[in-house]
Amino acid sequence: MNRPIGIFDSGLGGLTVLKVLAERFPQESFCYLGDIARLPYGNKSPETIRRYGLQILRFLKEQNVKAIIIACNSASTVFLGEHDFEGIPLFNVIEPGSEAALNVAKDSKVAVLGTSATIRSHAYRDTLKKLNHSVEVIEQACPLFVPLVEEGMVDDPITEMVAKKYLTDVLAKDFKTVILGCTHYPVIKQDLKKVLGPDVALVESGDVLALKLEHLFNNQAKFSANSQRRIRVCITDLTDHFERLAHHLMHPIEIESLEKIVL
Ligand code: DGL
Repeated sequence: MNRPIGIFDSGLGGLTVLKVLAERFPQESFCYLGDIARLPYGNKSPETIRRYGLQILRFLKEQNVKAIIIACNSASTVFLGEHDFEGIPLFNVIEPGSEAALNVAKDSKVAVLGTSATIRSHAYRDTLKKLNHSVEVIEQACPLFVPLVEEGMVDDPITEMVAKKYLTDVLAKDFKTVILGCTHYPVIKQDLKKVLGPDVALVESGDVLALKLEHLFNNQAKFSANSQRRIRVCITDLTDHFERLAHHLMHPIEIESLEKIVL
């Protein structure tokens, strides 16, 4: 079997990234780790998030992965600027997300939505400014979005109401480019679009990460051609609810094995 690509998130939201990559690279195997037992990371301190993150990077290394993607934005903030973990290429979602937003934002105005940990770290603001010092950035923590997604409240008037509150500034200040700086937010993209209107571009990390991976392995053809792929999802807690949610988020891509593991 080919060496898998490792993906790490605090929960199941990172499956939004896995799905994009699994569709883009149909020959590749993936090993996903969702730290559901300790979710959410978004309200924890940088020290705790880093301690959890290092445990997970070690776990993925033991699975013989050839690259690791930190899909979790909150965790990405504490590994920013680190592109290697003990010899394995390491990717975060902040840098590619920022690059993608700047490519879209013709008016050099970018709004960032994220968990409290992500917004408090100012990782997106600092990365955006490093790439383009004249960019105007506003940041908005949206702590209620994660539980709304976990409860399956997609295309729901309550989610829309919460979004209206969080997006007041984005709308009032006329920002047309919005980074979805949390793994869970692509799931409620339609609710956000309803509030923001059709002219606002929502930037997600999955697509940009795919380009980075292609670049790393030179081109798609070199991506483990002619081998049987395996999609393995490991989570640190397993309930019926999470099992259903995992299959729902990955549909129509099939998860070959959903395992509960102890770190
Ligand atoms: N995965 C987290 C992120 O992208 C959201 C969920 C959490 O708070 O752990 O920031």
